[in-house]
Amino acid sequence: MIITTPRLILRPWKEEDAPVLYKLAKDPDVGPAAGWPAHQDEKESLRIIQTVFSKPENYAICLKENNQPIGAISLLSSRNDHIYPEGECEIGFWIGKPYWGHGYVIEASKALLAHGFEELGMKTIWCGHYVNNAKSARAQQKIGFVFDHTVDHMPVPLLNEYRDEIINRMTFEDWKKCKEQEDQAV
Ligand SMILES: CC(C)(COP(=O)(O)OP(=O)(O)OC[C@H]1O[C@@H](n2cnc3c(N)ncnc32)[C@H](O)[C@@H]1OP(=O)(O)O)[C@@H](O)C(=O)NCCC(=O)NCCS
Repeated sequence: MIITTPRLILRPWKEEDAPVLYKLAKDPDVGPAAGWPAHQDEKESLRIIQTVFSKPENYAICLKENNQPIGAISLLSSRNDHIYPEGECEIGFWIGKPYWGHGYVIEASKALLAHGFEELGMKTIWCGHYVNNAKSARAQQKIGFVFDHTVDHMPVPLLNEYRDEIINRMTFEDWKKCKEQEDQAV
């Protein structure tokens, strides 16, 4: 499955992406904000491509001009021990630091949400961020997510710690409204 937007291609990860993934994911300002540790070497990046990123609905966010990954985005059917009910999933994303501030995550998320709601038949898509992650909070607000609830002391297993997390929500009806507003603005 390949999804295109005006500036981006969302495509499956390839083993050859490991060196680029390592360059982006070794940055301590990227993974830990999303709950995973910075990559230590290219071998670790390759292992992540072969395991985590090879699962369904995991995409490399690539610039159209060179098809090179600048980040990752996915629809997740479970997190930690929680399995989402039928018709619900969670969207997760990160962008490599050199590419922050261009609205890429907003563009990629809107395209993946369209796929989730219109092609996979999702009724609700969730998106969370840790309380101190202002960048993700802002991006989620711009995408159209609305606050649902806060979870205190959520386990972050890959970092062996606990954090408070804000959980936002978008329903299929919210999605249709956002799309109508965007279509009217064009
Ligand atoms: C969270 C994260 C994905 C946000 O990415 P980002 O590039 O910083 O965010 P945006 O794409 O929204 O860009 C930020 C700014 O660019 C602006 N922008 C520039 N060009 C734009 C365009 N064409 N379209 C939309 N916005 C654009 C936005 O308006 C926004 O500015 P504002 O907040 O002042 O309004 C990124 O910081 C990241 O990966 N962080 C580390 C990992 C992480 O936290 N992941 C999320 C876990 S929940």
